[in-house]
Amino acid sequence: MKILVLNGPNLNQLGMREPDIYGLCTLKEIEEKLEQLAGELGVSLDHKQSNHEGQLIDWIHQAPDSYKAILFNPGALAHYSIAIRDAVASVVTPVVEVHMSNVHAREEFRQRLVITPVAAGQISGFGVDSYLLGLRAAVKLAK
Ligand code: DQA
Repeated sequence: MKILVLNGPNLNQLGMREPDIYGLCTLKEIEEKLEQLAGELGVSLDHKQSNHEGQLIDWIHQAPDSYKAILFNPGALAHYSIAIRDAVASVVTPVVEVHMSNVHAREEFRQRLVITPVAAGQISGFGVDSYLLGLRAAVKLAK
């Protein structure tokens, strides 16, 4: 069973980006931790990251052909991209939305989450563990 791990804008900058908020782990290190957990859970992962909304939309559209669930950190697009929301709503593949920071406790513009209502659920505020908890949720949904 395959799960798609999708990361949106600026998440390729993890490790050097605002470390007081996002910590020092790079995206590659997060992917390695996810791979380890995926091995324990008996699923396989593909990892994709883009800074471009259209590319993320194309990957979401294609997901049902190959994946049973999507683990998705949309980055800032979570707060305003109706196009990504519509893409998520258009596929049968369940999406687990994750955020490293607690977006509910940050600036007002981050408290608006436009994808969450069409996601299977959302995990926010646990740093790297948001991804690991999200993967557990995605695997349960996929089974
Ligand atoms: C983020 C939260 C977003 O508000 C922000 O734009 C990001 C990262 C998080 O993982 O906490 O890029 O999605």
